[in-house]
Amino acid sequence: MTILVTGGAGFIGSNFVLDWLAQSAEPVINLDALTYAGNRQNLVALDDDARHIFVHGDIGDFDRVAKLLAEHQPRAVLNFAAESHVDRSIHGPEDFIQTNIVGTFRLLEAVRAYHGQLPAAAKNAFRFLHVSTDEVYGSLGQADPAFRETHRYEPNSPYSASKAASDHLVRAYHHTYGLPVLTTNCSNNYGPYHFPEKLIPLVIHNALAGKPLPIYGDGQQIRDWLYVKDHCSAIRRVLEAGRLGETYNVGGWNEKANLEVVHTLCAILDELSPRADGQSYATQITFVTDRPGHDRRYAIDASKLERELGWKPAETFETGIRKTVQWYLDHQDWVANVTSGAYKQWVGQQYGAAA
Ligand code: NAD
Ligand code: DAU
Repeated sequence: MTILVTGGAGFIGSNFVLDWLAQSAEPVINLDALTYAGNRQNLVALDDDARHIFVHGDIGDFDRVAKLLAEHQPRAVLNFAAESHVDRSIHGPEDFIQTNIVGTFRLLEAVRAYHGQLPAAAKNAFRFLHVSTDEVYGSLGQADPAFRETHRYEPNSPYSASKAASDHLVRAYHHTYGLPVLTTNCSNNYGPYHFPEKLIPLVIHNALAGKPLPIYGDGQQIRDWLYVKDHCSAIRRVLEAGRLGETYNVGGWNEKANLEVVHTLCAILDELSPRADGQSYATQITFVTDRPGHDRRYAIDASKLERELGWKPAETFETGIRKTVQWYLDHQDWVANVTSGAYKQWVGQQYGAAA
């Protein structure tokens, strides 16, 4: 048996592939377009592992995906591939429409054709799992209950609108064509291999580089943080036992204001890697212009996943954030390669024409 993962060279996808192969003998076909966010260095530990087959390609390339499916006959497709950064979607929405909406549509078309011709047993066992976000639900007021799966969709950024559209397509392919789909809507992830354009890795990197730590607006926006490996375990559980056509919220009950997160990061860095001048990294905090249309609060109610499938996160925010800071301190070469762009050249050197 085999699974096909899309976007497996990105932050969450690479953590998923590494965790999957650490726990299972089942091979992974990893289809990734290697945009700026895709980094094959994340997967270098699998270079000599025959269970990992990396394919450089686009989820929007119907023929390529159809050929891959026919060749490898996966029992499941897990769709992580996306443009994922809200700020980039504000500056340039086009790529988000192309990959998150058109790409997901073409992927669904290829999977539908493949699924339609499978023998009965394989057809029944097949799953398409779509990895989505809590941002599709919009923004919460201070006293509102956390998002449940029944919350209406109210996306506010081009990113979240494109993810919402992809969720609706996935739902429609189940309802109309009987495609056996599962959707997960997760809160903010953090952990190893997080691209340093997002808040937590950006702050760790800027702090160590002596640069300002930019806080949008008043820094009181709330996000609900989940350690990436807990997201991966939730996806494995939903794939294993999720009810067809259902959506599952994934979160760790860790609501924090941005400013609090940044102060926590500074305090851990002060302890593990103190500044030479003895001052706190918190002195580098700088308030900057707010993100346009900035969602004020996200919070995930993950009780359905816990009740139906028995999933719980293994990390608290306190344990996960400490591990994360330590990982970045131990992998400053990885951060340097990403921030300098050297990771792109490295792909050519390492894999040549096969990159
Ligand atoms: P990421 O930006 O780090 O990685 C995305 C990956 O997809 C990259 O490897 C990129 O090369 C690849 N990709 C982009 N366009 C592609 C295309 N057209 N075809 C094939 N591959 C393509 O993203 P991430 O943070 O790892 O997020 C993964 C998924 O999880 C996304 O769907 C995102 O919406 C969702 N999600 C992310 C978070 C989070 O906090 N990061 C939370 C909830 C849900
Ligand atoms: O909620 C899940 C989503 O979380 C995912 O779907 C997205 O793919 C992922 O990028 C993330 O979106 P956010 O916009 O919440 O993440 P980001 O790290 O960009 O920002 C987190 C918060 O920090 C947000 O309120 C904006 C703020 N921020 C961000 C940056 C980069 C700052 O104050 N300063 C910054 O420099």
